[in-house]
Amino acid sequence: MVQTPYELIKKTTSTFLPSELLSLLPDKWEKIGSVVTMKLPRELHAYKEIVGKVYAEVLEVASVLNDLGGISGVFREPVVEVMYGSSQTETIHVENGIRFMIDPQRIMFSSGNMGERRRMASVASPDDIVVDLFAGIGYFSLPIAVYSKPKKVFACEINPIAYEYLCRNVVLNRVGHLVEPCFGDNRLVAPKGCASRVILGYLHDPWEFLPVALQCLKNMVGVLHYHELVPVEDIPRQPLSHIECVATEYDRQVELITVEKIKSYAPRIHHVVLDVRITQ
Ligand SMILES: C[S@@+](CC[C@H](N)C(=O)[O-])C[C@H]1O[C@@H](n2cnc3c(N)ncnc32)[C@H](O)[C@@H]1O
Repeated sequence: MVQTPYELIKKTTSTFLPSELLSLLPDKWEKIGSVVTMKLPRELHAYKEIVGKVYAEVLEVASVLNDLGGISGVFREPVVEVMYGSSQTETIHVENGIRFMIDPQRIMFSSGNMGERRRMASVASPDDIVVDLFAGIGYFSLPIAVYSKPKKVFACEINPIAYEYLCRNVVLNRVGHLVEPCFGDNRLVAPKGCASRVILGYLHDPWEFLPVALQCLKNMVGVLHYHELVPVEDIPRQPLSHIECVATEYDRQVELITVEKIKSYAPRIHHVVLDVRITQ
């Protein structure tokens, strides 16, 4: 019978790990290109490298990273250490036919957002002008450009490392004729008054960026894809009221199109996205 990767990992590590520690071996990991990231329990730290070697061999990757503290700061950077393998962790991750060049030691890649990356691939129309206010390495901008082929995508990014990968990924996916990377704070660099669709893929006080999102819309009319972390019982009321509050300031109406749950973020807290139409 074919063994699962995890069964193979347990069988191999049982030759050197004390039996009472085997149950602590992580059965969840993120595989991004040739790099695997996992959360290694403290009790296994003494075996970090040899355990990492087994995961690298079974999962056929060049490097294994230990997630020390999730994602932090405005740039949303991972807090990781190399457990095993090459410390040169730049790699190309292929998802839904899109190639993402990335260094998982320096840039986040959330597998939990995969469904939304796929959904974004089909939301835009050929007439659309899209502004992605938090583009990162092109998580949403690339699928939109490759599959929906809108008129234009302006992809804003403030982190110079993420911006560098964004520019390389635009070339790698051959969408340089459609995607224009904009380096800097989106409040300063996002093009105003031209868009039909704006993406706010950011979870830290996203409502603070609603004014710039409305200013990006042509005549302040169009579609917003607005992300927020929300207690289950406040979906969609809480994010909708944030949007309506700012829309009222600009004498605009809000029509709710869809509410998508992207992932559970914490107990009873969901990462959701609201598609809304801003009208006069
Ligand atoms: C969580 S990441 C990308 C999220 C992506 N939209 C997604 O949901 O998969 C957010 C990105 O926004 C960038 N960012 C944060 N504040 C920004 C700002 N004021 N202007 C432009 N980019 C910003 C960060 O550097 C980071 O790369």
